[in-house]
Amino acid sequence: PKKAELSLLNQTHVIDEWTNVPTSILGSVSRRLHLQPNHPISITRKLIESRFPEYQHHNDLSPVVTVAQNFDSLGFPSDHPGRSKTDTYYINKSTVLRTHTSAHQADTFRANTSAGFTISADVYRRDAIDRSHYPIFHQMEGAMTWDRNALPKGKTLAQQVLEDVEKLPKHDLVVEDPNPPTHPERNPLQSPDHTEEEAAAIATHLKRSLELVVVEIFSRAKAAAGGGGAGASSDPLKVRWIEAYFPFTSPSWELEILWQGDWLEVLGCGVVKQDILANAGAPERLGWAFGLGLERIAMLLYEIPDIRLFWSEDPRFLNQFSDAGPLRRFVPFSKYPACYKDVSFWLPPSTPSVTMPMGETKPGTGAPNPAGGQSTTTTTTTTNTATTTTDPPPLHENDIMELVRSTAGDLAESVSLIDAFTHPKTARRSLCYRINYRSLERTLTNAEADALHRRIEVGLVREFGVELR
Ligand code: PHE
Repeated sequence: PKKAELSLLNQTHVIDEWTNVPTSILGSVSRRLHLQPNHPISITRKLIESRFPEYQHHNDLSPVVTVAQNFDSLGFPSDHPGRSKTDTYYINKSTVLRTHTSAHQADTFRANTSAGFTISADVYRRDAIDRSHYPIFHQMEGAMTWDRNALPKGKTLAQQVLEDVEKLPKHDLVVEDPNPPTHPERNPLQSPDHTEEEAAAIATHLKRSLELVVVEIFSRAKAAAGGGGAGASSDPLKVRWIEAYFPFTSPSWELEILWQGDWLEVLGCGVVKQDILANAGAPERLGWAFGLGLERIAMLLYEIPDIRLFWSEDPRFLNQFSDAGPLRRFVPFSKYPACYKDVSFWLPPSTPSVTMPMGETKPGTGAPNPAGGQSTTTTTTTTNTATTTTDPPPLHENDIMELVRSTAGDLAESVSLIDAFTHPKTARRSLCYRINYRSLERTLTNAEADALHRRIEVGLVREFGVELR
């Protein structure tokens, strides 16, 4: 039975047909791992902040934001998939748990208390379950702007920015950056607001600043790994810039790091859309912004193998990290066995459109598909056929994920679709999911895993009207 109100962080909120935040999430909102002393997320945050000594660091902003802050202020179109209830936790129609730290960009530009700033915070997204995805994670936003009206006499903004680039440290990182600063279709200049020289200079300052973050992180990782481990690999560290799209920057890029043979996306960034600055009362300022995922970086830095570990209160985890002294690589405590169980079911006969999670990428338009965080590879298209008003709502894979999370909590390590087919005669659709159960702290008995699995089966039937096979 739903109450008409929900209370969170000492505030009550009206609930409505948009409300979809489960109690499991509400219960973790107060954890704020980025502020916990000696926590790896907080240590990673401070390490990155130290690369931006002149910036103002905001670390205490409430996760409860308006739809206007999270989406509208950033120019998200009204039909952007990130706005949907399947991807975002709504407190009510006009209030969400922020899906990214960019939700605070406009307000911070408006306050205009310093040219450069970072914002670190917990962010929330409905998503798949695996070892690198968790519905709460932490991001750091960074931004830097220059004021056209406050330039030394005779100096252009582009000249000023390039002079500031010269003041940044140099590095000898191997960087691939094959694309021009702007491209008319793929990565357009904000004409007429910016000149080509301005965009190029801002891009140079942005890229150098972030390359220096990577250098800092990886020199620490290398030292931490000592003689062995991935961080000490003899291959030179390699990064590349690729073109990207976000509704709130242009041109835009993502930075990828070559890590154990794979290119890993670590952040998204770009030249701030001039509309955002203009609407924030700063039409004369130009600059850049980035957003990075702190878990992703902490996992690389310490070689932490599972994102759930960050939420562990087990001293065998927490005692391995310290604000003081040199960084030490994480040493896994003995791994407890995993136990997987499958569940197969027929979707309700009239389900018009099951979102099919088969290896597609999210409609690629920036947040809240996180750059620098956890972008999901399994997502969803909705194929609408024969919809009538009596059809049940389509079942989204994230709804299944949430049922698993709310039943098994952090004992669910991963959930993956292993089979799907449509019956040739009845046209009914069958899905089979494999759920891997594992505790990071103890051995889970088969009876316990069975009981959890059974509750999930019951929930699938009750909440989505599936028929177990
Ligand atoms: N908010 C974006 C995300 O979460 C990242 C980003 C921040 C991109 C700032 C550009 C500028 O994916």
